[in-house]
Amino acid sequence: MDILKRPQKIKTPIWFMRQAGRYLPEYKKIRKKNENFLDMCFSPTIASEISLQPIKRFDLDFIILFSDILVIPFALDQKVTFKEKIGPVLNIINSKKDLKYSSLKNIMIKLKPVFETLQILKEEKKNKRLIGFCGGPFTVLTYMIEGGTSTEHLKIRRFLSSRREEMDELIDLLTEVSIEYLRLQILSGADVIQVFDSWAGLLDMENYEEYVMKPSKRIYQEIKKEFPQTPVIFFPRGSGGKLVDFINYVECDAISLDEKFPQELVGISERKKIILQGNLSPKSLLEGGDKMEQEIRNCMQRFKNNLHIFNLSHGVLPSTPPENIERTIELVREFDETN
Ligand code: CP3
Repeated sequence: MDILKRPQKIKTPIWFMRQAGRYLPEYKKIRKKNENFLDMCFSPTIASEISLQPIKRFDLDFIILFSDILVIPFALDQKVTFKEKIGPVLNIINSKKDLKYSSLKNIMIKLKPVFETLQILKEEKKNKRLIGFCGGPFTVLTYMIEGGTSTEHLKIRRFLSSRREEMDELIDLLTEVSIEYLRLQILSGADVIQVFDSWAGLLDMENYEEYVMKPSKRIYQEIKKEFPQTPVIFFPRGSGGKLVDFINYVECDAISLDEKFPQELVGISERKKIILQGNLSPKSLLEGGDKMEQEIRNCMQRFKNNLHIFNLSHGVLPSTPPENIERTIELVREFDETN
């Protein structure tokens, strides 16, 4: 897969989920001037500048578009705001009828600034790969039903057990919108796509098949039909043992790993040439020191026979010292040179 093709002789390419964000002083400076987080996502000048901030500081191999998975509910005319110390807040919906959007075309018109950001980044990217993304339909729906971040997820659980029809309709809608959104991202310059399904781990096998595996396969097949050369990375976080079912069913190019995955996945991925991405814990990165260094070496060792993209098991935490990222990159490059 040409995701690993790079001009320099780099064995393991590197990027960090949430590499642009609150751990960077230069991000916080821009954030202070912009009270409205979505306004930053929808300003191509600001969003492209933020996407490039980590690239200016560190020797990373990928640029990720600065945006959020919740621009989709926003484009569907759901109310979405981001409150300091709380996170996203959405007005709660109960069915597709509660969304007042008019057509797929109009939804994409609302997302146009995101495509413009990618066009700017395409011009600036030099030898870096540009990552576009969306949320997994189930994860996006979880925020739409819960009205924000939740620890218990009672509303989505109730919805799953009692409103099957609405659930199916909304997942279908989000899958269709995500496919069109990713299509336009690729046409605007994205070289790689990542699908963040952060709450996949909430589901039992039956629901996981229906709301994580099936939509992922549909997204994958539609993208591949038109763009066979564009790698798609899936991140069904918290899947545990179900990851084996996921890769066998979706037959994807790459999978991003959190900390708990079945050991057999390493061998299966090696045989199937599925790229594994991950999986240093954000907590180790934050803490730094010898423990971090050991965990980086363990991670490199674990995947040394695989096609591997170095990354975290989840996003960079806000109080992470930027120097720890620098040291991590140094160690990964060092490992590649000596192994
Ligand atoms: O990775 C990157 O650097 C690209 C940008 C990006 C953001 N969010 C920017 C952001 C990406 C890829 C996301 C994905 C995202 N957004 C996910 C999936 C990955 C994951 O973390 O599980 C989810 C679930 C969201 C929804 C979301 N956005 C939440 C729950 C929050 C608040 C909590 C938090 O982590 O801050 C956000 C806000 C958000 N998205 C910020 C950033 C930089 C912080 C906003 C701020 O400055 O206050």
